[in-house]
Amino acid sequence: MNAPFPAPSPTESTVDAAPGAMLTVRIRRDGGFQAFTVARRPAQTVLDVVTEIQREQDPTLAYRFACRVGMCGSCAMMVNGRPRWTCRTRVAAVAEGDGLTLEPLRNLPVVKDLAVDMEPFFAKWTAAHGAFEPGAVPADDFAVVAPESPERRAVDAGIECINCGVCYAACDVVAWNPDYLGPAALNRAWTLVNDVRDRGQDARLAAVSGDAGCQSCHTHMSCTEHCPKALAPTFAIAGLKRATARAALKRFGAQAFRGPSGRRPS
Ligand code: SF4
Ligand code: SF4
Ligand code: FES
Repeated sequence: MNAPFPAPSPTESTVDAAPGAMLTVRIRRDGGFQAFTVARRPAQTVLDVVTEIQREQDPTLAYRFACRVGMCGSCAMMVNGRPRWTCRTRVAAVAEGDGLTLEPLRNLPVVKDLAVDMEPFFAKWTAAHGAFEPGAVPADDFAVVAPESPERRAVDAGIECINCGVCYAACDVVAWNPDYLGPAALNRAWTLVNDVRDRGQDARLAAVSGDAGCQSCHTHMSCTEHCPKALAPTFAIAGLKRATARAALKRFGAQAFRGPSGRRPS
């Protein structure tokens, strides 16, 4: 089992280090840690540090990034034991003394060094029916969805997910049960459950109500605590728990109404 996350340091600061200061960076690779030394720079991000090491010291170091502005979700890794997006994480805010420890994102297979295989993460989006389902006969016209409706507000609360996997790495239930769909896929399912245009709700609710679905969430809140977009998958999952319970009651009520023979009483 993974160790619990360390509490945020009370000394977290965004004040840059003094000129000439150096940073010792320990990177997990090949079953151990390799140490590098990098100069501290103003407004330096963790991704800046990794890029400098790869470009100036060891071109074989593997990691992943694309946008560098917090949009693509590809740069996440463990920074001093906590999952973070690295392009928007300042070294000054997270360095412990003059040190930084970097590891690949937790709960996912490592491809090489700091790059993980995101395939299991996205496979769970598919398993949670995370794609819009227009139905057999898509509507001819655009749907009108009132911005202030409760459904639209529920969608808004979760729609800005960038698929970074930080919540997935933060979730202990994923660590205990690799089949668990996880906070990002369930958050996505909840946005679609609230999409009044979607026609795949029965199948989606069935998909997220199984053993590996929303009922397995222990409400630890780690996903919500760590999400860099300030989303709250925990609350989305609570919504799914209510929706799946309502669907089960509806099925039970319909069955009771029909009786054991499966026919409606005459
Ligand atoms: S819910 Fe937040 S932490 Fe999870 S994948 Fe989406 S943006 Fe990343
Ligand atoms: S609230 Fe649920 S999904 Fe989020 S980290 Fe905790 S157990 Fe995982
Ligand atoms: S590089 Fe795109 S979110 Fe960090």
